[in-house]
Amino acid sequence: MPARAGNGRGAPVAIVTGASSGIGRALAVRLASSGYRVGLIARRVELLESLRDEIAKARGLAVAEAADVGDRDALRGSVARVEEQLGPADVMVANAGFGAPTHLDPLNIDDVEQTFRVNLMGVVYSIESVLPGMLARRSGQIVAVSSLAGDRGMPGESAYCASKAAVNVYMEGLRIALRERGVVVTTVCPGFVQTPMTPMDAAATPFIMSAEAAADRIARLIEGRRGGVHRFPRRMALLMSLIARMPDALVARLVGDGSAHEPAPAEPAP
Ligand SMILES: NC(=O)c1ccc[n+]([C@@H]2O[C@H](COP(=O)([O-])OP(=O)(O)OC[C@H]3O[C@@H](n4cnc5c(N)ncnc54)[C@H](OP(=O)(O)O)[C@@H]3O)[C@@H](O)[C@H]2O)c1
Repeated sequence: MPARAGNGRGAPVAIVTGASSGIGRALAVRLASSGYRVGLIARRVELLESLRDEIAKARGLAVAEAADVGDRDALRGSVARVEEQLGPADVMVANAGFGAPTHLDPLNIDDVEQTFRVNLMGVVYSIESVLPGMLARRSGQIVAVSSLAGDRGMPGESAYCASKAAVNVYMEGLRIALRERGVVVTTVCPGFVQTPMTPMDAAATPFIMSAEAAADRIARLIEGRRGGVHRFPRRMALLMSLIARMPDALVARLVGDGSAHEPAPAEPAP
């Protein structure tokens, strides 16, 4: 069962963005089964509604609200509607994420902007939507699902890695600033997790874990109100810390120079 109900209204409330798939979906199921009332947010509302029904069948309580986390007003509206139905959020899990290869020739600027809009601004807007209430109650937990990819810029993934590095540093500053204000700040950095976002190539995804295992790790950080940075699985975190210290030439030898991520050249005009 959850450690405690911080909102004074019985079972605690957790809001999970990116709940329609992968880690977010598994986390919503896991938290609901532990007694949390769960707000489900993502764009694909039909997937959220079927998850809500699945949770209800298992005697849990969830509500579904559609929003693009990169749209500040839409997200704030959805979070407000979740809180109207379930009560104030004890936990916000800013999990929604977007991944696209970084191309060089030409630079795929639209993808870079979308990566930062979702992965960084989506986290910031998610926090904005609950922080005033948490500060007023002097209680709450903010969780950002970042990635071990934030530890090093990888060829072909510059934008994704940079967005996660930005999340890590943003959360670090918040963590220090909120130390004495009752709000726990948690940064989660998983390695490879089996979800639609991950390539199917097993050789390219060492130490991959299931979405359920990743969700369980995150749920335990929530139940224990544990702040700080949490990198897992341990062997992938160790490998990433080595890669982060490697010279560029060695990284290129290990993972390539990113040219495999480039789109195929266009057919010459007849
Ligand atoms: N899979 C991995 O190996 C791995 C490793 C480390 C970290 N992560 C991080 O874990 C988080 C979850 O990813 P996942 O692996 O579970 O991927 P996933 O299965 O593709 O799920 C991504 C989720 O984000 C939501 N989302 C994407 N863009 C959105 C937007 N603009 N507005 C609202 N929701 C949006 C998607 O919902 P809709 O499409 O319905 O909006 C979906 O629910 C991400 O932050 C990712 O970077 C993943």
